[in-house]
This record gives sequence, C-alpha cells and structure tokens, in this order.
Amino acid sequence: MQRLLEYESGCGLAGGWFMNGDTAAMVKKAGPGEDGPLLEVRGLKKYFPVTEGIIRRRIISQVKAVDGISFTIETGETMGLVGESGCGKTTTGLCILKLETPTAGTVLFRGEDLSTLNTRQMVPWRRKLQVIFQDPFSSLNPRMKVGRIIVDPIRVHRLIPDNHKQEARVAELLGLCGLSPGMADRYPHEMSGGQRQRVGIARALATNPEFIVCDEAVSALDVSIQAQIINLLEDLRDQLGITYLFISHDLSVVRHLCQRVAVMYLGRIVEMTTTEKLFKDPLHPYTRILLAAIPIPDPDIEAQRDFTPAQGEIPSPMAAPSGCVFHPRCPLAVAGCSRERPPLRELRPGHHVACTQVELNPIS
Ligand SMILES: Nc1ncnc2c1ncn2[C@@H]1O[C@H](COP(=O)(O)OP(=O)(O)OP(=O)(O)O)[C@@H](O)[C@H]1O
Ligand code: SF4
Ligand SMILES: [Mg+2]
Repeated sequence: MQRLLEYESGCGLAGGWFMNGDTAAMVKKAGPGEDGPLLEVRGLKKYFPVTEGIIRRRIISQVKAVDGISFTIETGETMGLVGESGCGKTTTGLCILKLETPTAGTVLFRGEDLSTLNTRQMVPWRRKLQVIFQDPFSSLNPRMKVGRIIVDPIRVHRLIPDNHKQEARVAELLGLCGLSPGMADRYPHEMSGGQRQRVGIARALATNPEFIVCDEAVSALDVSIQAQIINLLEDLRDQLGITYLFISHDLSVVRHLCQRVAVMYLGRIVEMTTTEKLFKDPLHPYTRILLAAIPIPDPDIEAQRDFTPAQGEIPSPMAAPSGCVFHPRCPLAVAGCSRERPPLRELRPGHHVACTQVELNPIS
C-alpha cells in the first residue's frame, strides 16, 4: 500500500482498431501523431545493493533483479511477462512506473523518456500509467470507504473539481467494474476478494490511464473469480483502449489474455513473441520446460506424458551464472554457453530468442 500511496501522491484515447494478424485479436491502432510504440523499454537494468554491517554499512554484492532488458508495447496491446518467482517481473513493472529508479536504461512512454523526469515533471505522466496489485486487501486502505478510495486519485490529480460530479464519476467507475453504486459506502473488509479486486481496478481507472501494469492481478483469487476479472480486464481493453503489461506466473491466464509474451529468467528476457507462436512453437529450452510443466486436466494424458523438469534450483540473482544464465540447468548447454551471454535475436519474424543453440538443435 505504501507504494501505491507514494504513486498517487507522486504529484502523486484516440485512433482506430485493426486486427493483429497472428492472434486475430483486436489491437488499437495508433492515431494521428501517435506513431511508434506506446511504451519502449531499452536496456533496462535494476541492481539492488546487498549490504553488510549494522553501524558501518558496506556494499558486498548486488542483486541483478533486471539485467538489460528491452521490449516495446503497442497501443491497445496486452503484453504478458512470465517467469519463475524472483526472475524480476515486479521490478520491471516498478521501474516502468518509476516506483523504482533504474540502474541503467530508458523507459519511453509516447516517446517521452520517463527516466530523465523528476518528481514534478512526472506528475502529468503519473495519471496515464497505473498499477493493479496482486493482493487487493493490502493495497486498499482498510480505514477508507470504497468511494473515498476511488475518488482520492481524482482529487489528487484535480481531474473533477465539483463534488457532485466526483460522486457521479465514482458511481460510473463502479458500474464499469461490475459493482453497484451502493458499494461506495462499504469498507474493503465488507467485500469479497473478487469485489475488492474490482475496486482496485476502478481506482486504477479513475485517472483515465492509457497503460496499466497488472502485477499478478488475479493470482490471489479463486479460479471462477479469476475468470470474471480476466473478462473484465478484456472488456475494459476493448471499451477504453487500455494497454496492459500483464505480469503473471500463470501461463494459462497469459495465454488467454495476452497478444504477446516475454519470458524472463534471472533478470533477462530469454524469449519474446506472439502468444500463439510461443505456445505452438517455443524455441528457448527454458520456455519449453516452462510450458511442459503446465498441468493437463485429464489425469490419463497427464500420467502418460513425458516431462523432464529443469534440473537444479534457480541460481541466486546475487551470483548469477556467467554467460547464459540458464546454462547450469539447460539440457542443450555446450561449453561456450558458460562464457558468452546470448543476445536476444530475431530468429524468425517477430520471434526473439536468447540462445546460441536453437538453430543447431531444430525443435521437433
Ligand atoms: N528492494 C529490494 N531490495 C533488494 N532485492 C530486491 C528488492 N526487490 C526485489 N529484490 C530482489 O530482486 C529479485 C527480483 O524480484 P522481483 O520481485 O522482481 O521478482 P518477481 O519475478 O516479481 O517474483 P515473484 O513471482 O515471486 O513476484 C529477487 O531476487 C528479489 O529478492
Ligand atoms: S545459450 Fe546454451 S545454455 Fe543458454 S539456453 Fe541456449 S543452449 Fe541453453
Ligand atoms: Mg512479483
């Protein structure tokens, strides 16, 4: 909650639609003067210092939470960011929102380099970029009624001066998120988990954002409620043209909601392509292991399938392996893999992979 408060007090849609060829999904097209991607991340790094000592603190090492990643997101697109726990997904989202200061790299939003802006200069951009967190219970102030929670960002950004109009806007936002206007008078603890997450979404929408980071936004919910919230996010994308970075460890959810996916491993993107290509034709050995680990609901098929999990533990980002960070666990590793960091190359049109061996080992 502290982060959200910081964000809000960080002070505190145009264009047509076209069909994205690969996914046949509706993607909002850039309007006049909106050429180029909505968001462009270039060489982003976030290293956290590891310190020792109580009185005299000294830096003994660094956690390379994000280690030089680049990607773009088009207007109206939903981009998935997946990977095992600790691979740097949340840190990436926080750096984009400037809730963490990147160690290196740039984040361009509509061509504006957010990394160079100070707190005051960030104010007009804050309302365009919003976030929905995993746990609505801890991200909503328990002492505030829902109406107050939603109206707060409207007041902070001085979007609607008139009190009556503010109330009407709160009712409208609740309605957009499938809640009745009467919910404005409740406290978060008087709601179910699904309703609380709808309040979190309504609050994110209050500033008319163009881009929302959804960080494990449905992970804490029951499967049936998850489906409802995912449908809501999809409807909002279609109605309001919102662009999402959807962070999740749940590949089935990502498959349903996202048009493109980036797979992260130990702070780096190892594969990035359309959702269809990723699930039909994964190229990176890590992605293949990740996809093979998705349980199949039919116990007979599940019992028959041949699946070898990745060997060993995920190494610590404090002592990431040299060269390709996946080499200690990779079934295709060769001697050179521990020496050179493989660049993220476009091996097939729109399909980027960070592995030197995939061309040599055709994937069946
Ligand atoms: N403020 C911090 N100080 C030091 N290390 C941090 C900090 N925040 C994150 N880390 C470390 O950075 C790495 C990446 O963390 P991050 O939360 O981004 O991972 P994640 O992919 O979101 O994981 P999860 O799926 O569990 O949410 C982890 O090793 C984590 O311990
Ligand atoms: S570069 Fe080498 S270790 Fe890394 S994924 Fe490819 S084969 Fe495996
Ligand atoms: Mg996280």
